[in-house]
Amino acid sequence: MRVLVTGGAGFIGSHIVTALTSAGHEPVVYDALLPAAHPGDPSPPDAEFIHGDVRDADTLGEALRGVDAVCHQAAMVGLGKDFADAPDYVSCNDQGTAVLLAVMARMKKNRLVQAGSMVVYGEGRYSCPSHGVVRPGPRDVADLEAGRFEPRCSWCGAELEPGLVGEDSPVDPRNVYASTKLAQEHLAASWARATGGTAISLRYHNVYGPGMPRDTPYAGVASFFRSALSRGEAPRVFEDGGQRRDFVHVTDVAAANLRALDAIAERPEGTHAAYNTGSGEPRTVGEMATALATAFGGPLPVVTGEFRLGDVRHITADSARLRRELSWAPRVGFTAGMAEFAHAPLRASAGMAV
Ligand SMILES: NC(=O)c1ccc[n+]([C@@H]2O[C@H](COP(=O)([O-])OP(=O)(O)OC[C@H]3O[C@@H](n4cnc5c(N)ncnc54)[C@H](O)[C@@H]3O)[C@@H](O)[C@H]2O)c1
Ligand SMILES: [Zn+2]
Repeated sequence: MRVLVTGGAGFIGSHIVTALTSAGHEPVVYDALLPAAHPGDPSPPDAEFIHGDVRDADTLGEALRGVDAVCHQAAMVGLGKDFADAPDYVSCNDQGTAVLLAVMARMKKNRLVQAGSMVVYGEGRYSCPSHGVVRPGPRDVADLEAGRFEPRCSWCGAELEPGLVGEDSPVDPRNVYASTKLAQEHLAASWARATGGTAISLRYHNVYGPGMPRDTPYAGVASFFRSALSRGEAPRVFEDGGQRRDFVHVTDVAAANLRALDAIAERPEGTHAAYNTGSGEPRTVGEMATALATAFGGPLPVVTGEFRLGDVRHITADSARLRRELSWAPRVGFTAGMAEFAHAPLRASAGMAV
């Protein structure tokens, strides 16, 4: 299968390219090598490579010739610096996806697997001892400043117990990036209905592993901690470190993309399906910092009590549907994965780091 991997020079995309090649497929990397993702002097990836932007319909049209499926990873990621980044996020992620889908429609390319994100769920699913399942709104700044980080029941104010989020949970994006990831899914669903195409969105959890970008305002928490350790500094853990996340290894995410690309031919036309893509082993950010710092050989993390507006307290998903319907199973456990990541190379430029 010849697969166009948009964002294929990026962290996750480059692992997908490696996995496709190993499985005997033919990946074509399509990437704009955005400076935010590739500071310094990016070198082109070690695969068939087209330097192009997903918002550029002409270059995309050329790139899509002879392609059997598209694996859409290109996006601006992370929380960004401030709200001034919003137009760039919307442009890259949503305008970019709309252009890609329009060109696919024109060229009758009808298979799409795309990178979704767990950020679409916002604060996720909780239960109150008295009120059952509740969905708390954004946390109060006053609570955060006072070190009260747990979201509270909006009916009775009690602290809540976090639970696993299923794909059918209501969506509630809490920042610009999250809104753009949700819009990408809606665009894919509209495209599928309008063209008879088939789309799968994989809602990744916190992906980590070799080749992760060094810390920029756009990177994930595992990369912040790993970058601090490389500089000889202690990882700085926000809030009280009790935020729960699901850290999933990048090779497992690449494998999920391959399973989705394999399965998509058998799926009903005109449909879009979303799958949570997580390890199924929720951990706290504090635990992750400690595991990483210990494997690195120190210094141990410091818990700072700082917070970022737009961050959610706990978000952990139930990835059972992906295991069941696409026969996927994560292979890298938390302890082994973090031990490897502590010494793995990070990416400063666009080399195909693996
Ligand atoms: N890293 C995570 O934990 C995580 C979690 C959930 C979802 N995701 C999603 O996974 C995908 C890949 O993320 P990543 O972590 O590998 O990020 P990354 O920044 O390493 O890779 C993204 C790549 O896309 C390219 N790109 C961005 N906009 C483009 C455009 N308009 N045209 C062409 N190329 C463009 C960049 O140059 C970069 O190489 C993204 O869609 C992201 O939203 C990532
Ligand atoms: Zn309550």
